Amino acid sequence: MDSIPYTERRNAITMNIDTDTPEGIVDLIHECNMEVFNGYENHKGLSDDTILNKLDQFVSLVRTNLQTENSIIVLSGCGTSGRIGFLAATFFNELCLQQNLPPKYRYIIAGGNSALVTSIEACEDDPVIGTKELQCITDTYEHVLFVGITCGLSAPFVGGQLEYCLNNPQKFTPVLIGFNPISMARRTHVSKWINDTTFYDIALRMETTAGALVINPIIGPEPISGSSRMKGGSATKVILDTVFYLASCNNIMKASEVIEMYRTAVGTMEIEGQDIATVVEQAGECLLNNASIRYVGSSTFGIWGMIDASECVPTYNSSYNDIRGFMANDYFRKNLNPEPPLSFVSPALHEATPDDLSKTFENLPPSSIVVFIDKDYHLQKSLVEKLQEKGHHIVWIKILSTESFDLNSNVKIIDLSKCIPSTDVTMQYSLAEIILKLCLNTISTGAHVMKGKVFQNIMIDVRVSNVKLFYRAIDIIKSLAGVDYQTAERCLIQSIYQTNDTINDKTIDQHIMAVANNHDHVVPIALLMSLSNCSYTEAKLKMDKCPIIRDICTGTNQSST
Ligand code: F6P
Repeated sequence: MDSIPYTERRNAITMNIDTDTPEGIVDLIHECNMEVFNGYENHKGLSDDTILNKLDQFVSLVRTNLQTENSIIVLSGCGTSGRIGFLAATFFNELCLQQNLPPKYRYIIAGGNSALVTSIEACEDDPVIGTKELQCITDTYEHVLFVGITCGLSAPFVGGQLEYCLNNPQKFTPVLIGFNPISMARRTHVSKWINDTTFYDIALRMETTAGALVINPIIGPEPISGSSRMKGGSATKVILDTVFYLASCNNIMKASEVIEMYRTAVGTMEIEGQDIATVVEQAGECLLNNASIRYVGSSTFGIWGMIDASECVPTYNSSYNDIRGFMANDYFRKNLNPEPPLSFVSPALHEATPDDLSKTFENLPPSSIVVFIDKDYHLQKSLVEKLQEKGHHIVWIKILSTESFDLNSNVKIIDLSKCIPSTDVTMQYSLAEIILKLCLNTISTGAHVMKGKVFQNIMIDVRVSNVKLFYRAIDIIKSLAGVDYQTAERCLIQSIYQTNDTINDKTIDQHIMAVANNHDHVVPIALLMSLSNCSYTEAKLKMDKCPIIRDICTGTNQSST
């Protein structure tokens, strides 16, 4: 157990989350979220003095950069880490402009802009592309503060960039954000990293290089093991927002005071637990009945909806259509790095009227859920009633809105405004975003737990779309089926290629590419093969007869044949 990185471990709090009630699920996730601030085992999370000191150092670095000519701050990451970097970069650039300062923040996300709202996982394994993108964006600048984000201290894409910074210290100051000790950084080789370099080698160099900064609080395992979009993503957001906020205001506040504000606000979410649980229950039933969940919101609130939705695809192998986010304005397009426009797919509803939205949702299956986020102007009586007439559930998440909407009593309201203290506007917005993120994560996670996509607290239907997820899948099969590594690997590969033959002549990269063409339940089928010692064909047949993934592990599925 000791060698398993914290970010991959199972959290004792949620060991039985799969059999809990919606209220229980919400409480357990909340308890895990609080570990980010209060700590885990003998670690103090974000309240650790060493970490708080490092955050203050980080603030000084950012402040210096903001005052230096010909310099920029680059935030980079894969998946959720990249998305949170994008949001911080755009938000704090706006603040720079308001303060008559040049907008200095830039972002890089593995897979490009499309990865902001869709799941593009394979680029995570490419240190060469990571480096090229960093070179490209920093080419004309003299000083660069580079912030590489990888919750598991694992992504080669970010590792390659950090390596480049360490090799060019006259220009780059590198900062690494993640949530494991350096000793647990990933030691797996990927094909594209020359000299067999691993992330661990780079993390070690970061730790021992003067001027480089590693910010790696231990915040405890995720509620669903490995789902770093949850606590990892939240902690990343709190760190970035705290540091950039402090760097932008000339007061003498310390990081500890700001972190305390987040802790209090997130802690207060408990009072809305019952209302969130009601929505989790509806959302779970909705997915079980093959209906859909839709989020609609403006500006960054809309983006949080899109992000939460897109992450369910790799985490739970869910369909793109199960949960989708829609944006009610064109915030996204205004804030993107230049890229060929066709490479960006956004279901934006720019200038859509409530009637247009009603058309967009015309073919939603009955009993779907439409969640309106805060100030969305589509939230109008006629649209709500139309959707309700079709049997859909309407939810309104209220956060900063002071408007009153004319809503009937069947609209479920989650009032998160109670969690936002009166403080300055920038801070309030950031607090609102983290609380919204946690609420959406709870709804989508809870819904997938209720759908049976989780056994105990393990995501058993993970999509094997990069090297990290390939090894995670093998670990899941090994531990749940009690088989050895070779058996788990063989079953996984046969399930990927949908064959009973043994495949020995392909590389991990080829396996991952093959997954792109196989949307079946790759891991659950491999698990069934391992559990009942049967062929791919037999396991697939069982799976088709009883597709509730969780039942595989409880044995219900095996006896159903
Ligand atoms: O590979 C999938 C994934 O785990 C995403 O869920 C996550 O957001 C991304 O990788 C990045 O992970 P990390 O921050 O650990 O590099």
